[in-house]
Amino acid sequence: MIVHLNGKLIDAREAMISPFDRGFLFGDGLYEGIRATHGRPVALRAHIERLANGMHELGLVGFDAHSLVRLSDELLHANNLTEAFLYWQITRGAPGPGHGPRDRVPPNAMTPTVFGFVEAVPAVESFVTPRAIKAVLLPDMRWQLGHIKAITLLGSVLAGQEAMARGADDAILFRKVPQGDIITEGIATNVIALVDGELVTPAPDAAPILSGVTRRLLIESAPEIRQRPVTATELRRADEIMLAGTRTMVVSVVELDGHAVGKGVPGPAAMRMLGALRARLLADVDSAPTKP
Ligand SMILES: Cc1ncc(COP(=O)(O)O)c(C=O)c1O
Repeated sequence: MIVHLNGKLIDAREAMISPFDRGFLFGDGLYEGIRATHGRPVALRAHIERLANGMHELGLVGFDAHSLVRLSDELLHANNLTEAFLYWQITRGAPGPGHGPRDRVPPNAMTPTVFGFVEAVPAVESFVTPRAIKAVLLPDMRWQLGHIKAITLLGSVLAGQEAMARGADDAILFRKVPQGDIITEGIATNVIALVDGELVTPAPDAAPILSGVTRRLLIESAPEIRQRPVTATELRRADEIMLAGTRTMVVSVVELDGHAVGKGVPGPAAMRMLGALRARLLADVDSAPTKP
């Protein structure tokens, strides 16, 4: 596999990163996961915008998020892939001489580490019927800045392990607020549900969630999806529950905490959402930004 490391395309076996990299020692960095189809990264503008916003919030400088247009194309071509998942990670890098590797506050001038790899995935056209999965509801133990796509994913790892231990495929997370338990998101997905005939998705201002690019594309394609706080009680009586993400596309939760959701099979809303996403991604190939 050919990977990108700090401006160079090299064999993955030759990629070396300093053990003092703050990404490794502190989880001080950001990532993006981007889908490519027909040889082009899709929804790239939205991914770049989210990365640039995250870099701004972290004060992470020295990398132009817009260069992902060119770098993503190069990485795809180097690996000869057309249907792919691109992973980009930008960390704050390793401190130079005179700066302690364990200093929590980073020195002002740092050179970020930029790493990217790409994996083959099934073609967008092959996502016709939503995959059926089992999920459990778990308390959201992650940090409060869920809108930042930080590489520190220990809370998600633990939730994933707990879901597996309970015989489920995924977890849907909730936070306790004075009004009750409100749903945040899946481990690596956003949640959309059909509750009382209405398509709803947790609002980002109700509790911290990542503003998923897939979620955004689906809301643009189906403006009837209402963004509002969604409670765990509502989810337990939902007719359909869907999880949406770049890699996942749209899957149907057919069992929640051991109880069937709706009829216990992927429903018409999930079919419609997956169809809308498929169409949207394929339409985006033609309007994808080109190399500057
Ligand atoms: C916590 C979380 N929520 C939502 C998503 C979905 O985001 P996107 O649609 O941009 O892939 C992800 C993707 O990794 C995620 O990690």
